[in-house]
Amino acid sequence: MNPQLLTVSYLAAGALFIFSLSGLSNQETARRGNVFGMLGMAIAILATMFSGQVSGFEKLVPAMIIGALIGVVIAKKVEMTSMPELVAILHSFVGAAAVMVGIASYLDPENHFEGAEKTIHDVEVFLGVFIGVITFTGSIIAFGKLRGSISGKPVMIPMRHWLNLIALATCIYFGYEFISAETHQAGLIPLLIMTAIAGMIGIHLIMAIGGADMPVVVSMLNSYSGWAAAATGFMLGNIALIVVGALVGSSGAILSYIMCRAMNRNFVSVILGGFGTSGGSTAASGDEEAGEVTSATPEEVAGLLKDANNVVIVPGYGMAVAQAQTVVSDIVKKLRTKGVNVRFGIHPVAGRLPGHMNVLLAEAKVPYDIVLEMDELNDDFPNTDVSLVIGANDIVNPAAQTDPNSPIAGMPVLEVWKAKSCIVLKRSMASGYAGVDNPLFYKENTDMLFGDAKDSMIEVLKNLD
Ligand code: TAP
Repeated sequence: MNPQLLTVSYLAAGALFIFSLSGLSNQETARRGNVFGMLGMAIAILATMFSGQVSGFEKLVPAMIIGALIGVVIAKKVEMTSMPELVAILHSFVGAAAVMVGIASYLDPENHFEGAEKTIHDVEVFLGVFIGVITFTGSIIAFGKLRGSISGKPVMIPMRHWLNLIALATCIYFGYEFISAETHQAGLIPLLIMTAIAGMIGIHLIMAIGGADMPVVVSMLNSYSGWAAAATGFMLGNIALIVVGALVGSSGAILSYIMCRAMNRNFVSVILGGFGTSGGSTAASGDEEAGEVTSATPEEVAGLLKDANNVVIVPGYGMAVAQAQTVVSDIVKKLRTKGVNVRFGIHPVAGRLPGHMNVLLAEAKVPYDIVLEMDELNDDFPNTDVSLVIGANDIVNPAAQTDPNSPIAGMPVLEVWKAKSCIVLKRSMASGYAGVDNPLFYKENTDMLFGDAKDSMIEVLKNLD
């Protein structure tokens, strides 16, 4: 392929990625955004394969086919509730690729650079490997935490920020040794030492982060994986990688920033790993007297809903687990025909991935205009007759406002307890993702409807006529 055509193909792919991101920012255009992204990636892969810079097709093609098959099988099998784990492990692949490409590019005997060119290439290798290995080890830990194979509790090593700083300074020192090395053999040792230390930084950064803050970590690692890819792009002189890396890096950083704001966390502290996590308690809020838990029957809940003028439904992870969205949608239709004003309140980290609840509700054909963000709705709870919490827990926990020692202290929550009546659907008194007790369940105006959310909703629907 001639170089001009290659550049044009890469630019076309870059433009498609930008259209893709813009499509993904809205539910109605998200499918189209995905198609643009896939098209852009297909063009980028084909253009690279036929660029004339790639050889060894006999190994490359089988590897690509096997990789594609694994990807298809995993994507078909994965439950939506496990998406963050999958995303985390995919980020680790990007990090590992950046490390391997960096070391291979350094050792490649065909790469002869002299003077300033050598320094620039070495800096690119250093950055690609450094960011790549932090992304790799950090994502593996995030994967373990999201899966539950590693405890979600923050691991707070004493003087951890100093340790990180010393480790960073050591990496810079070995980076200097690496760049000033005369021969590849002399440079390899400092490069490998730096890789090992940066790998430890990745582990330490993510181990220090507590359960409820994991969504921010996933988007932050997404951003890191983008920057690792961009550094690799510079190293290989590949425009497509630079563009894609920069898009992923910056959009991930923007998403992290938005999520930090939504969770009331400090962006800089997130980047440094571990924030708002001064140990945290997992007990119920000290201010809240644990009162009696009262439960309601589906008939009683149906009666409350029929008599209400204003109802706010707050869905959470449990609605996704129970796959209750369709029956919830049917209940909403029925209530609306009876003249009840029903709206949904969506917390930015409800469920297990950004936009999780919006996707489920869209799938169940709930009209978009009654699905509101937390900020648009929180002031309306005092004028709400019934708040119906379906499988949500952390996002409606008043301890976030009342208990400064809570691991979720300061996180904005949906103030469902301010409605005249609050009904919570869940199976038991178990805590949510952050592992904290919820004083909401003991409030006087709260009734629990125990059971699987879908089964409970089916029973409520039967009693709505
Ligand atoms: P959670 O706090 O995790 O609470 C979900 C509740 O659903 C649980 O307490 C569980 O109680 C209940 N549940 C589970 N299966 C159920 C079923 N079949 N029927 C009825 N209830 C069921 O969820 P949330 O309120 O949506 O908050 C999200 C949490 O996940 C936050 O801490 C957030 O930080 C974290 N997180 C979010 C993301 C993103 S980006 N959204 C990513 C990673 C982590 P029972 O076991 O008693 O039923």
